[in-house]
Amino acid sequence: MQIETPETWAVVTAGVHGLGRSIAERLAEAGLGVVATTRHVDAGAAAWAAQVSAAAQRPVQVAPWDPADPATDDAVLAVLARAGAVLRVLVNNAGPFRRARQSLADVSLETMTLLWQGNVGGGVRLTQRLLPSLRASGEGRIVNLGAVGAGAASGWTGRGAYAASKAALASLTRTWALEEARHGVTANMVCPSDVHARDKEARELGRHRPSGADVAAVVAFFAGTGARFVTGQVVELSFGDGPRLRPGETTGSPTATLLPAGVHVQLARDARVYEILQARTEGASVEYLVGPATGDPRWVAGDSVRKVVAEPDP
Ligand SMILES: NC(=O)c1ccc[n+]([C@@H]2O[C@H](COP(=O)([O-])OP(=O)(O)OC[C@H]3O[C@@H](n4cnc5c(N)ncnc54)[C@H](OP(=O)(O)O)[C@@H]3O)[C@@H](O)[C@H]2O)c1
Repeated sequence: MQIETPETWAVVTAGVHGLGRSIAERLAEAGLGVVATTRHVDAGAAAWAAQVSAAAQRPVQVAPWDPADPATDDAVLAVLARAGAVLRVLVNNAGPFRRARQSLADVSLETMTLLWQGNVGGGVRLTQRLLPSLRASGEGRIVNLGAVGAGAASGWTGRGAYAASKAALASLTRTWALEEARHGVTANMVCPSDVHARDKEARELGRHRPSGADVAAVVAFFAGTGARFVTGQVVELSFGDGPRLRPGETTGSPTATLLPAGVHVQLARDARVYEILQARTEGASVEYLVGPATGDPRWVAGDSVRKVVAEPDP
């Protein structure tokens, strides 16, 4: 692992909880001072920062920052200035998501704006403020958090606004890479598939699907000085599941219409969500490869899909 000199720092937005926490901890372990932002600085955040700092023997600070509030950008710069930090890494991790599905026919402008501000606007704004420092470091790194499908601007039934915001961020990542190369700043994007809430702050690599540690490891690679010639990349952490889901889609509601054949299925309440991984035509009927994202996928004919798409969550 690349060990940093003590005076180089990283900013991780929404770095106190969730995947951001795993990323912040990993970057501190790699030898960077870390500013982790949060909309709500509290005693728990401060205690966590002190603990990570002690374990990694690197300074770890918490800064109040809200992607929707430009006035909070100053707080991040103030923490860096007080620390005398040379900023080398910015991880734009903050990114609100809406678990409940809503079709584009119904989504409100308010939701669109929240997702845009949280996933795109706030990060662009903060990046602009921090670019002079990243450039001055001589080896600046921008790492953005996307989601599977973002690099291809894939559609996502019921989550179109979120998917669009991540697709926009993928495009911006590539533009940053082009525009900042002459300043020695790279820009890349890490796109995880679903990381369960219980796994986001996990210290161990996930066995069957990505955990927080898996995401952090890839972010740390892009953030490291060894990745100086890697830029403009949009990388998926999906064990190959992400692209295969489209156009089949993940089913997420009690009833769902499975594309492309329009088969209607019933999911048991509290069912584990199954996904159509592939569809193929066999004679006159359509067959689906269905299953959870990992393990036990099977081919079934269209009519029998309703028997296998759901099973109780263990
Ligand atoms: N987990 C996944 O499965 C997954 C999959 C693909 C992509 N991602 C992306 O990875 C990044 C981190 O995901 P995560 O699952 O760790 O996020 P999360 O658990 O939903 O949220 C992590 C933190 O983001 C901040 N946040 C949440 N909603 C926000 C809002 N409306 N405005 C501003 N900040 C908000 C909060 O930080 P504070 O309250 O401390 O400010 C929250 O603790 C995001 O960009 C997400 O889109 C996650």
